[in-house]
Amino acid sequence: SVVLKSSSNECKMPVIAFGTAADSNKSSEETTKSAVLEAIKLGYRHFDTASYYGSEEALGEAISQALQLGLIGSRDELFITSKLWLTDNFPHLVLPALHKSLQTLKLEYLDLYLIHWPISVKPGNWKQPYSDELITTFDLKGVWSGMEECQRLGLTKSIGVSNFTCNKLDNLLSFLTIPPSVNQVEMNPGWQQRKLREYCEAKGIIITAFSPLGAKGASWGSNEVLDSHVLKDIAVAHGRTVAQVCLRWLYEQGVTIAVKSYNKERLKQNLEIFDWSLTIDDHQKINQIKQFRIVKGPVVSIGDLWDGED
Ligand code: A2P
Repeated sequence: SVVLKSSSNECKMPVIAFGTAADSNKSSEETTKSAVLEAIKLGYRHFDTASYYGSEEALGEAISQALQLGLIGSRDELFITSKLWLTDNFPHLVLPALHKSLQTLKLEYLDLYLIHWPISVKPGNWKQPYSDELITTFDLKGVWSGMEECQRLGLTKSIGVSNFTCNKLDNLLSFLTIPPSVNQVEMNPGWQQRKLREYCEAKGIIITAFSPLGAKGASWGSNEVLDSHVLKDIAVAHGRTVAQVCLRWLYEQGVTIAVKSYNKERLKQNLEIFDWSLTIDDHQKINQIKQFRIVKGPVVSIGDLWDGED
C-alpha cells in the first residue's frame, strides 16, 4: 500500500487507514471483526482504533484471525493506531492506559499512540459530551512526557496527537523531547484545514484526516460532503464516485486518511485512488466549497478547544 513518511522522524504509515469509530448500534463486535478481515483481504494494512471506540477487542481478534488464516505473514505488516481517552489524559494514567489498550488488542506494541483530544476529564466519566464541571486542567507537558515514556519503552513506535490546533502544537513543540509524528483531525473538502496543513507540513507532522467523507450516517456526521454538487460534477467527469474524489483530493494534499466502510465494494473503491488525478480546475472548484467544521468535539461548551482557528 502507498506509504507516507514524516520528514521529522521515522514514522512511515500507509496512506489509507481503515477507521473503526462508529455508532455503537451499528458496530457490533462481529461487524467490526468481519469488516477488518475483509479490509485485510483487500489490502488495507493500517487500522485506526481508540480506547473510546470500543473496537480494540474486535480489531485484535481480526488481526489474530488474519495471522491464523495466513492473510498476513506477521504482525509487523500492519500499522495499528490507538488513542488515549480524556479520562486517562493525566501524566500518571498514560502508561496504564496504553497497557490496557495493548491487552485488549492482544498486541505487544502499537505503531502509533495518540492523545485523542487536548482535554482532561475527571476519571470515571465515560459518556460524552462533557459539561464544564467534569473538565479539569489538561497538563500537556506531563501527559506528553508519559507518551514519550511509552515510546521509549517500545510499547509504541511513534506518538502523536489528535484534534490539536496550530496554537496547541506550538505549545507542545516548545518543550518536548520526542516530536509528534501525527496530528489526526477532521479534514475533507468541506473542512479543508488549510492553515493547519501548512503548519504541520512545515514542522514535519503528518496529518491524518478523519471523517474524510463527512462521516455520513454517524450521529456526529453530515451528508453535506457526499451530497456536494461540486464534487458530484467532478466525480462524473472522471468516471469516479464522490467518495473517491474526496479521498483523492486528501491524498493530493499530502495527508493520510482514516476512512471506514462496512461494505466490501465501497471498501475496495476507497483504495482505488492512486492511479488517476484531479486537475488544476478541479482543485480550484474544490477550494471554493463552503467551509464548516462537522465534528465539534466531546464537550458541551467549546471553550478554547479550537483556539479561534476556524
Ligand atoms: P458504509 O459503511 O455503508 O459504506 P467517514 O469515513 O467520513 O466517517 O464516512 C463513513 C461513512 O461513509 C459510512 O457511513 C460509510 O457507509 C460511508 N462510505 C464509506 N465509503 C463510501 C463510498 N465509497 N461511497 C459512499 N459512502 C461511503
